[in-house]
Amino acid sequence: MTNEEYYTFIQPYEDAKEVLLTRLHVLKHNLYGDAAGQPIHNIQSRIKKKASLEDKLKKKEKEPTVMNAKDYLQDIAGIRVICYFVDDIYNLVDALKRQADLIVVRESDYVGKPKPNGYRSYHVIVGIPVYCLDGMEYFPVEIQFRTMSMDFWASMEHRILYKMERKDKDKLAAELKNYADMLVEIESRFELHSEGKQWQGQAEQRKAI
Ligand code: GTP
Ligand code: MG
Repeated sequence: MTNEEYYTFIQPYEDAKEVLLTRLHVLKHNLYGDAAGQPIHNIQSRIKKKASLEDKLKKKEKEPTVMNAKDYLQDIAGIRVICYFVDDIYNLVDALKRQADLIVVRESDYVGKPKPNGYRSYHVIVGIPVYCLDGMEYFPVEIQFRTMSMDFWASMEHRILYKMERKDKDKLAAELKNYADMLVEIESRFELHSEGKQWQGQAEQRKAI
């Protein structure tokens, strides 16, 4: 794909990402009301660069065209929401799903069911309606909800294991899994001191309805 094709192609993904960022900022301020703490520590976002878009298509054995990017990639727009507590993640996902105009394309709960290597995060791909002269079209945005400790682990794992070709890879992976378990333990101790506990009650009540 040419540079021009790329920039035209990503524009509505950029728009979808901005819409979702605004909604997340609203939830950050409103989810628990004024008295309680905020659920979100910080938010990061990115649009996949042209080179990594093409690389990913090649990995999937597809021609690196914008048509294929549209058809086969759902993480062109990505948002990472870093929370304080595990409950914040579930409460935010619940609140987002209650927004009637967006659609959930796919979700993976690697918080309730971590990956075997220890990776935890709640992934949701949402379709955001983008309006233009021709009408409306949904564009996917991948959101990764994590606590600070999940983000710490994932960032370090990505940084260390991405350097591949290490002789000690298996040993290191076992050590990282061990750190992941330790972080779950530390996180649960912090939770004992959280004031947001009454909210867990509400989330559970909602599930029961
Ligand atoms: P991708 O081709 O990676 O998008 O695979 P997928 O669509 O099956 O996605 P999955 O939901 O498993 O993961 C998507 C994203 O989550 C990745 O691009 C990473 O940002 C993150 N991720 C998933 N697994 C790991 C992991 O083991 N370690 C780290 N550091 N990040 C991970
Ligand atoms: Mg993906």
